[in-house]
Amino acid sequence: AAPAPAEKEDPFEQELRKANEEMIRENYAQALRSFNTLTTNFAHEPSAHLGRARLLELLAKKERSNQRLWEAIDAYKRYLAFGELVASNQEFQTAGESCIENLRFLGHHRQATTIHELLINRLPEDPRLRNQLSLTYLMVNNLQQVEKVAVETLKLWPNNAVAQLHYGLALRQFHADYAKALPYLKYAVESGEEGTQEAFFYLSLGETMQRLSMKSEALEVYGKGVAKGFFASLYQRSLYNEPRLRAQPFWQPKETGYERQLEKLTLNWRAIRDEGLALLGRSGFFEDEAELLRDKGVWQQYELYAQGRRVKDNCRRAPITCSLLEEFPESAGCRRGQVKFSVMQAKTHVWPHCGPTNCRLRAHLTLAAPEPEKASLRVAEQERTWREGELFIFDDSFEHEVWHNGSQSRLVLILDMWHPQLSAAQRRSLSPI
Ligand code: LMR
Ligand code: MN
Repeated sequence: AAPAPAEKEDPFEQELRKANEEMIRENYAQALRSFNTLTTNFAHEPSAHLGRARLLELLAKKERSNQRLWEAIDAYKRYLAFGELVASNQEFQTAGESCIENLRFLGHHRQATTIHELLINRLPEDPRLRNQLSLTYLMVNNLQQVEKVAVETLKLWPNNAVAQLHYGLALRQFHADYAKALPYLKYAVESGEEGTQEAFFYLSLGETMQRLSMKSEALEVYGKGVAKGFFASLYQRSLYNEPRLRAQPFWQPKETGYERQLEKLTLNWRAIRDEGLALLGRSGFFEDEAELLRDKGVWQQYELYAQGRRVKDNCRRAPITCSLLEEFPESAGCRRGQVKFSVMQAKTHVWPHCGPTNCRLRAHLTLAAPEPEKASLRVAEQERTWREGELFIFDDSFEHEVWHNGSQSRLVLILDMWHPQLSAAQRRSLSPI
């Protein structure tokens, strides 16, 4: 009998295999040519587009090229557009998730949401895909959408820990409804489930408890956060940290190495005060604190430097202060902080909170102070008050809280300064905050 004919590989499969092999052998230029040819000659084959997308993504990472990453995203989108023509749910999902990750990386969260919708429509039974969508909204602080998605997810999966977490965060940060947020945040964090174990979530739960006067419960949560390595200590809970920096609630000027610069500013406090007061007298220049840190009262700021950059228009209206600051580049140029006038009216309370990073120290040069016994700043377990013409320094990565029960408003110049132990190279390379 005649031998059975060898099974002939389909020409597309053959080309695809060749392109994949070139990629595996790291012959990227050739692999890219092959995939480009494939997607032209076999434009109707989803796997050609998928292969090309994966290669472009790999190249983008190797070349650290955002342009390449956009090409990869485009290729993924072409693949995903085949929809039902793609047989494998798993492959479809993985590709969609890669595309979303790349869009998040490039800061195009809005575009990512359309990919999320695609995945959710195809796989409506998987709550994780919905949680990924609410996470994308959370990343851009679109809490209204976080809430909307989480509520939908909870209708179908009432016990889903991640959906509860996202809903709790929306209740806390969007509605400022701490009592309602608490059980959701607590359930989620205590569940230990994937997607719930992050420093920010422990911080959110602890702060919610503090705002409900549940002091010891909050400390317990922070203690767990310390044990998990999320926080440096019970009181120092900044999230963007450099290791091994000296950490203490209050600092003496001479401990910082910036004694001379601080001295010069202090000597000029009256000129600085006059500029601050003049600005206060004109309406519309100070802006409300916008991070939901106020329990009650009025607390406003006027920024002179932000993330190491001069705020030009504002500096023009405070020329003496800014010219003094130009002589203090460790503060004016601190990309992880600000220099600003901060005014606080009587009857204000600022909730306990931590700054975002341990890379800066914060000085207050007091320009106008209320009655000393009626206002205070607590940092960790130490308290102090403001006295006109005086300067003190604290590390705002430690928990701090402010009460102002005096009658006259308080005006200070806040100066953030690079932590003195950061090297010049670190100061150059750390991402701005
Ligand atoms: C803070 O960081 O919360 C305080 O320094 C702000 C202020 O104006 O007291
Ligand atoms: Mn603060």
